[in-house]
Amino acid sequence: MSATHQFYPLTVSNLVRETRDAVRIDFSVPDRLKPLFQFEPGQYLTLRTNINGEEIRRSYSICSARSDDKLSVGIKAVPGGAFSEYANQLLSAGEVIDVMPPQGRFVASPAGKHYLALAAGSGITPILSMIQSRLAEDDSAIFTLCYGNRATRDVMFLEQLQALKDRYLTRFSWINVLSREQQDVDLFAGRLDAEKLNTLFTCGLVDATSIDEALICGPSGFIDDAEQALQSLGVTAIKTERFGVPPATKPTSKTPQRDAASVSIRLDGTQYQIELEDDDESLIDAAERQGVNVPYSCKNGMCCTCRCKLKSGQAEMALNFSLEPWEVEAGFVLACQLQPKSSKIEIDFDEQ
Ligand code: FES
Repeated sequence: MSATHQFYPLTVSNLVRETRDAVRIDFSVPDRLKPLFQFEPGQYLTLRTNINGEEIRRSYSICSARSDDKLSVGIKAVPGGAFSEYANQLLSAGEVIDVMPPQGRFVASPAGKHYLALAAGSGITPILSMIQSRLAEDDSAIFTLCYGNRATRDVMFLEQLQALKDRYLTRFSWINVLSREQQDVDLFAGRLDAEKLNTLFTCGLVDATSIDEALICGPSGFIDDAEQALQSLGVTAIKTERFGVPPATKPTSKTPQRDAASVSIRLDGTQYQIELEDDDESLIDAAERQGVNVPYSCKNGMCCTCRCKLKSGQAEMALNFSLEPWEVEAGFVLACQLQPKSSKIEIDFDEQ
């Protein structure tokens, strides 16, 4: 079995500045790794590097199209964000970054015909990959994009979006909403919040009855607003990808108290056993300390890189910002948030 949860060193082939605080990073993938790095548009990569002696991991959505001969991610600098500032200010072509093969379930359903994509800021990254790929691969696919930013200079992938508009005149429409820039039409000025979305839908600019699937990506507040607006119009086929951590529920670094447990782990076809003491060490940290490198990135319940299935035993999650209700129902859990409630549990990272 291929080690889909391990890191592979990839060379940065090119860096393109997208906006004053966002960069696109292209990786070259050696032929032997190409099967492992095939992706579904909308998925993300987990990157790992060493910054000032500290190992830093972050997950970023793929922005390239499936047919591109490069694998690219878009990274917007977050003030104080170790990896995003490093990528925007210090990283250069030729350097090598450890990259985990693509992950994530934020993908457009192939059965859809008219997709409504709602994005705010860097939330455009996975959406761009979906738009480019679906329009090129399916002649009947139609995309309507509502994209919110502060000003034109903040719009990531501006040239690519304009080129897509010119190329797919009848199948791609783009509603560009700017909050801090004068617009010719008032409708396109302001924040892309619940009120604005409701106005866009009710004025007839977007026909909610024709939407087969809505794809939403951005900060949590934006996604909550968009979901509410769509549901009130009867749109129920909605997929979301949340960026960042909701401020109101931002976790502390302290893991809540849990019981001691023996944990059996299946990872890339190999079985491991680790022991958890009844202390505050997380399962991820305990596994690493005992020589088992389980996949993770954010360690705060947001990215879903540590998704696995609870096969036996009882356990709860301290936080969950990324698993869908059906996944929780099916027994999927986030290893970084797992608190065993029985003396033995069994988890499986290979089950999808
Ligand atoms: S490591 Fe990100 S959700 Fe667990």
